[in-house]
Amino acid sequence: MGRIAWRNRPGWGFPEGHYGAASRMNPLPADVSMLRHLRPAVRAMSGYTPGEQVNQSVKLNTNECPWPPSPRVLSVLRELAEPGASDRLRLYPDPVSRRLRETAAGLYGVSPDQVLAGNGSDDCLTVLYRAFLDPGDRVAVPWPTYGLYDTLAALQGIEIVHVDFLRDAAGWHLPEALGRLGAKLVLVANPNNPSATLVPVATLRRLCEQVDGMVVVDEAYIDFALADGHDATLLPFIDQHPNLVVLRTFSKSYSLAGARLGLLFAAAPLVAELIKVKDSYNVNVLTQALGIAALEDRDHFRDCMRKTVDERRRLERLLAERFGWTCPPSAGNFCLFQVGPDAERLYLGLKQRGLLVRWWNRPILRECLRITVGRPDQTDALIAHLTDLAP
Ligand SMILES: Cc1ncc(COP(=O)(O)O)c(C=O)c1O
Repeated sequence: MGRIAWRNRPGWGFPEGHYGAASRMNPLPADVSMLRHLRPAVRAMSGYTPGEQVNQSVKLNTNECPWPPSPRVLSVLRELAEPGASDRLRLYPDPVSRRLRETAAGLYGVSPDQVLAGNGSDDCLTVLYRAFLDPGDRVAVPWPTYGLYDTLAALQGIEIVHVDFLRDAAGWHLPEALGRLGAKLVLVANPNNPSATLVPVATLRRLCEQVDGMVVVDEAYIDFALADGHDATLLPFIDQHPNLVVLRTFSKSYSLAGARLGLLFAAAPLVAELIKVKDSYNVNVLTQALGIAALEDRDHFRDCMRKTVDERRRLERLLAERFGWTCPPSAGNFCLFQVGPDAERLYLGLKQRGLLVRWWNRPILRECLRITVGRPDQTDALIAHLTDLAP
């Protein structure tokens, strides 16, 4: 069984904000005394740390797609800038993103009332936490995984249980214990971030049967897995598992991280309830239109997927040949390379040269670099800098 750790329990390493738990004991300085009115959970939490967003860098740190969005997306953007379209901006957007949901439903073989659109899939996650979790409830995740699951739990004062992935040469495997912890919400990123590893569909379906609560499969990177020939998505099973929620994002495979768009798929009665929880106008008018255009351009999408999978293979091969680095089998647009004790030094050295990758000062990850698949010229730049920096 994987190691199990409880977070967000007093005494179990509750992350602390700037004026967090310690300052509750002592009076706050006068200029920040208003902070005492905040919910204790907000003061105690440290907040999500996103990957750095620095312009003019080679950005291989936040798993965006290196290719531009579809030309159709850009032409919709231009149309929306025409004077004749000004009413589109003057008026509120469609609160339930009806056309976007219809387009997505047609493409993914579900019904529009099984789809909810969000301001990024992070927004869909927020809706789920707000809808399902009360104080005293528990969330469970395999670990390490996407850090926002922890942040959202801390924000609501919810206990989150981490169960270590079982790691071996073949990959990262879902720990059996995950479904036996009495959690109301079990979240699995598939492919996982930061490992890019894939859990088989059959394992996740078993988890749905095992859990007396909701199972959220976050498929932020699934398009890369599908393009690579993996039969990996849980989307065809939302009718068979009423407690299953599947998330997708436009931030990765559709090159629209800046527009903020995510989709949630679940049983229709559940989606109807979740619509009550989301912000009224959670997806703006531009994003709804850009999302439809992106979904409709299948050729562009396929081309980006193929180029990314090809480049990932090249990146893996070059880093193995030049530096002997390996990574668990990647089904995403990034790889978690096992670098060794030099990982932090290389991360900082690359950053100094304007090339960003991701490094975490945490157990399991301290000797790794997570590197996003970029364009071939970006891979070349990475290799050149690493050749200079490596001992
Ligand atoms: C597993 C996972 N889920 C969700 C997201 C966030 O997606 P979005 O940009 O749609 O909020 C990320 C972003 O890195 C991610 O890695």
